[in-house]
Amino acid sequence: MAALHAAAFNDERHWSAVEFADLLKNNHVDAYTQAHGMALTSTAGGDTELLILAVHPDQRRRGIARALTLQWLDSVGDRADIAFLEVAADNLAALTLYTDLGFGIIGRRLAYYTRESGPAVDALIMQQALPHGQGPDSAPFPPESS
Ligand SMILES: CC(C)(COP(=O)(O)OP(=O)(O)OC[C@H]1O[C@@H](n2cnc3c(N)ncnc32)[C@H](O)[C@@H]1OP(=O)(O)O)[C@@H](O)C(=O)NCCC(=O)NCCS
Repeated sequence: MAALHAAAFNDERHWSAVEFADLLKNNHVDAYTQAHGMALTSTAGGDTELLILAVHPDQRRRGIARALTLQWLDSVGDRADIAFLEVAADNLAALTLYTDLGFGIIGRRLAYYTRESGPAVDALIMQQALPHGQGPDSAPFPPESS
């Protein structure tokens, strides 16, 4: 996981294997994995959050992230009513995927992601209602008003 994280997030701080091991000890954390991709999520109190979604650069645009995200949303529907995540405002690939899967923007954290090169980037908070039994096909929250 640490190696995949380092390969996928080349402009952010890399998480160590120890950090992943500690995270996975939490019983509210779930890991969804494929050969070249992973999603880590946290589910508690009726909310579920996507902590990490990463696909190796050599294996992108093959549907791995979409499959992992759907796996998360499909499997968590009986434990959560709301799914949310944070994504960098300049991350077009992830933003497109999340919007396509029904997430809507509900907030913004200014200059949230520091980068090794260039200025800090805003984080967008995205959310989706997960009515029990409907999963990812549920209606998205409306985007934030401008
Ligand atoms: C974002 C990321 C997880 C996408 O992984 P992926 O396996 O390539 O994504 P998928 O093949 O499942 O693509 C699903 C959809 O996302 C969108 N998408 C993916 N990559 C895109 C890109 N480079 N540009 C525009 N849209 C893109 C498309 O709508 C795509 O559907 P399509 O291929 O039918 O057009 C991957 O690029 C990655 O690991 N990036 C670095 C880490 C990261 O940013 N994680 C998310 C942080 S919140």
